[in-house]
Amino acid sequence: MRLKPLAVLPLVLTAPPAHPCAPVFDLSATPEYQNLDFATDIQPIFDVACVGCHGFAGNLDLSATQSYANLLNVPSANPFNAMDRVEPGDPAQSFLFWKINCSNPAALNWGSMMPIGGPPLAAQDQARIMDWIREGAAAAKDPLRVFRHGFEARPPQPPPPP
Ligand code: HEC
Repeated sequence: MRLKPLAVLPLVLTAPPAHPCAPVFDLSATPEYQNLDFATDIQPIFDVACVGCHGFAGNLDLSATQSYANLLNVPSANPFNAMDRVEPGDPAQSFLFWKINCSNPAALNWGSMMPIGGPPLAAQDQARIMDWIREGAAAAKDPLRVFRHGFEARPPQPPPPP
C-alpha cells in the first residue's frame, strides 16, 4: 500500500532537527574546573574578547561592574529562545553558553556565534564558563571549599537544546 502524502506530512513537519546546535569544541576533552571565582576566572574572558562590543549599557554590558547582574537570571533579548542568559546550575538552558559554543546559531535564528569577528573562545575558556554555570554561577568561590576534588570523570557536555 502506498502512503498518502498528506498522512506523512505532519510527521515531517513536527520532527525536530537531528542536531540543532553543532558544538564548536568537544568540551569533554578539557579538564573539569571547580569552585570557580567569577571575578578572576570568568570576567577576564569577557575583558579580553567581549567588552569591545559589550562594554556599555543597552548592549548587554559585560564590563566588570555590570556583567554579573546582566547575566544571572536575565531573559535573553533574542526572541527565538526562551532561555535566560545564565540559568544557574543549567548550562543547557543558558543562552550565554550556546552563544559561545554553538557553531551554527544562525540556523536557529540565534544571531552570530560570539565573539563576532573573532576566533571562537578557547575550549578551556568555554569549559570554564560551562562549569561555572553548572556549579551554580556563584559570584565568588566558596572560601570554605579548600580542596578541588577533581577525581571524578568530567560530566558530559549538556545536549543541545530542542
Ligand atoms: C564585534 C562585536 C561583538 C563582540 C566582540 C562580542 N559580541 Fe556578543 N553580541 C554582539 C551583537 C551585535 C549581539 C546581538 C546580535 C546577536 O545575538 O548576534 C550580541 C549578542 C550577544 C549575546 C546574546 C544576548 C541576549 O540577550 O540574547 C550574548 C550572550 C553575547 N553576545 C555574549 C558575548 C560574549 C560572551 C562575547 C565574548 C566572548 C561577545 N558576545 C563578543 C556583538 C559582539
